Amino acid sequence: MATRNIRKKGDPILKLKSRRVERFDERFFTLLDDMRETMYEADGCGLAAVQVGVLKRAVVIDVGNGPMELINPEIIETRGEQMEAEGCLSLPGEQGVTLRPQFVRVRAQDRTGEVREYTGEDLLARAMCHEIDHLDGILYTQRLAPKEALERFRREHPDAEV
Ligand code: NI
Repeated sequence: MATRNIRKKGDPILKLKSRRVERFDERFFTLLDDMRETMYEADGCGLAAVQVGVLKRAVVIDVGNGPMELINPEIIETRGEQMEAEGCLSLPGEQGVTLRPQFVRVRAQDRTGEVREYTGEDLLARAMCHEIDHLDGILYTQRLAPKEALERFRREHPDAEV
């Protein structure tokens, strides 16, 4: 395993759409392993392949429950909403409050190519949405909560820290 260079804000690759993974071979496993190591070294909770310069629809996530790999992921169900400050390893030192679903169900392949379903709530739901957005060239700065939504959310959730 090795760490790879994380592409940062301003790199045009971050705005490109990634391609479906068709080959689940050794080279792809090395990419996934390197992504995981890169994410841990950078102290992040998610990383998409495009962030290390590879336009493949693959993400790794670890919000504290162990690593998860989502290949060719699709969000098939969402419920509720949440607002939290969010950051990205490609935009170091920045944060913004985003509007995301509170629950998501994702259909994705694992590294063996098997199709599975994964569910996430709260931080995991947010990480899944954030990383899957990367595969379509979307950064969290395009998901910032509008001011009115932020005010409404604060009224409805007085204990939220946003
Ligand atoms: Ni990111």
